[in-house]
Amino acid sequence: MNESPESPEALGEVVEDLRRHLLWQEESGGRALLVDSAKLAAERSASLRSMLPPRGAAPAKAPPAEPAPAPPPVPRAEVPRAAAPERPAALAPRPASPPVAASGNGLLLDVPQKAPPYPGALPGVVDGERPTLDEIRRTLGDCQRCKLCTGRKNIVFGVGNPRADLVFVGEGPGENEDLKGIPFVGAAGDLLTKMIQAMGFSRDDVYICNVVKCRPPGNRNPEPDEIASCEPFLRSQLLAIQPKVIVALGKFAAQTLLRDSTPITRLRGQWREYQGVKLMPTFHPAYLLRSPAEKRKAWEDLQQVMKIFGKQGGART
Ligand code: URA
Repeated sequence: MNESPESPEALGEVVEDLRRHLLWQEESGGRALLVDSAKLAAERSASLRSMLPPRGAAPAKAPPAEPAPAPPPVPRAEVPRAAAPERPAALAPRPASPPVAASGNGLLLDVPQKAPPYPGALPGVVDGERPTLDEIRRTLGDCQRCKLCTGRKNIVFGVGNPRADLVFVGEGPGENEDLKGIPFVGAAGDLLTKMIQAMGFSRDDVYICNVVKCRPPGNRNPEPDEIASCEPFLRSQLLAIQPKVIVALGKFAAQTLLRDSTPITRLRGQWREYQGVKLMPTFHPAYLLRSPAEKRKAWEDLQQVMKIFGKQGGART
C-alpha cells in the first residue's frame, strides 16, 4: 500500500475490518472454525492491505465516515444430508474473483483487480459466509499459480458429496487422475474405493480430494512451493464441506493439514484435530499397495473412524 497507516483511509479500513470481524464472531457464536482472536483480524487487515493495489486504482473518493453496510450474503443452495452434529460457522471468499492469495491462516483471500463494488468495504475480506465448492472451483480457474500447471492435462479438484460428513484427502493426482480430472481413479484409487466400501460408505457418500490439484510430473512428490500454492484451496474446500471427520491419506495430507512434520508412521492411528474437525491420519493407499502388510494398521485406523459414525467393522479389503 502507498498510504500511511495513519491516514483516514487506512484507519477507516481497519475500523471496517474490525467491525466485520466482530460481527462475524458474533454470528458464529464463538464457534468460528478458523479464527480464534481479534489478532487474526489485525493480521488479516495487514495482509489484505499488503495485497491491495495502489490506491490510484480506486476511484478518488474519501471513504464514508460511517462504516459501509456489508454486502448482502451470498445465497447458497442447501443440499440435504444426513443429520450430523452442528458444525462451526465458516467464512467465505467473495465469489468469482479469480486471483487469490493465501492469508497467514491458509484461507483464500481474493486479490482485487479493481476497486471493490461497494464503497468502504474491504475487498476479499471473508465475511462469515461459508463458501461453496463451486465458488472455490471458479476461483481456482485455469490455475497457473505454480509450475505443475505446465504439465497437467486436467485440474483434479475433488469429487463426491459436497455436504459429506467424511472427507478423504490424498496427496496429488497421478496419471489416470490427470487424464480423467477425477481423484483416485487408478490402482490406488481402486484400493481407496474398497476401503471406503469396507467402512460402509460409497464414494458418492464421501468427498475425495488432494493436497495438490495438478499432477506432479512422473508422480514425484509435490514440492513445498506447489503445496503452498494449492493448500489454500484445500483448506477452503474443507471449509465449504465442513465434514465431521477428515481422513488424511499419507504424509503429505497429514503433515500439510496438521502443520506437523512428524512421520506418518507415528501420526497414523492417532486422532488429531483440524480446525475443530476430527482428523485421522493413515497410510496412503499407494503405500499400502507397495506394503500390503501395513493394511492391517490402516484398517485399524479406519475402524476408529467408523466408530464415530456408529458403523461396526466388517471385513477389510
Ligand atoms: N494418489 C493420490 O494421492 N491422489 C490421487 O488422486 C491418486 C493417487
